[in-house]
Amino acid sequence: MHHNQQPGPIGIFDSGYGGLTVFKEIARQLPQYDYIYFGDNARAPYGIRSFETIYKYTLECVQHLFDMGCHLVVLACNTASAKALRSIQQNDLEAYGPGYKVLGVIRPTTELIGQLTQSRHVGIMATTGTVQSQSYVVEINKFFPDIQVFQEACPMWVPLIENNEQDSPGADYFVEKYVQELLQQSAQIDTIILGCTHYPLMLRKIRQHVPAQIRLLAQGEIVAERLADYLQRHPEIKGLCRQGGQFEFFTTETPDVFDAKARLFFDAPVHSRHFEL
Ligand code: DGL
Repeated sequence: MHHNQQPGPIGIFDSGYGGLTVFKEIARQLPQYDYIYFGDNARAPYGIRSFETIYKYTLECVQHLFDMGCHLVVLACNTASAKALRSIQQNDLEAYGPGYKVLGVIRPTTELIGQLTQSRHVGIMATTGTVQSQSYVVEINKFFPDIQVFQEACPMWVPLIENNEQDSPGADYFVEKYVQELLQQSAQIDTIILGCTHYPLMLRKIRQHVPAQIRLLAQGEIVAERLADYLQRHPEIKGLCRQGGQFEFFTTETPDVFDAKARLFFDAPVHSRHFEL
């Protein structure tokens, strides 16, 4: 049991860069807090890995954030939220005590979806790991049993974005392919959740291939709103989140490589430090 009751930064975790699209919105809506962003770039992508590996890697990174003084960690990664969050909450948090919390990005999105779809046919585009976990299907059906969920794994999208090809003609092929495969499952889909925190970077391209009447839902704003609400409802956790407006960035990869790409995701200059695993 950790007995540290000193307020600390809010931890934001992702396998790499994607979580920066969520952090950007959190920082915009809640600029008063201190934050540590932690990207496990050396071991990304997570989307293709097994349950055991994703759980192990995610838990390690969460523990590093706790060691750095965080009490509250947001898994700003769908793959980690789908495959590791529940196990961490059930098996690992108890050892730390009641002042330690980990939140994910899937629950906030699924809670909202019932208000957004008219046709009750919803599409999920995500990594293979997230799709295989069935987390979106299970979570949506818990809140809204009348909604039908159709999923499409998009394994080529993260590599395209990681290699800065999101606006190139080469991206068109795989955007078109996965969008078509999803829409072939149901012609009634009226809302598509971009269930991977990388995808907002390719939003322009995705929008070109998705019929205009279908809503595309990115998660950053939704997660930020739910975090603000969570802190409102949990003053005991809010009191453990240090205010000061300082942002720190750690990557398990080389900082200069991280910084160059991170600014595209974060929309602002990023100066990271290396974290040795
Ligand atoms: N950012 C991760 C997500 O939201 C995907 C990247 C990866 O595969 O590591 O699912």
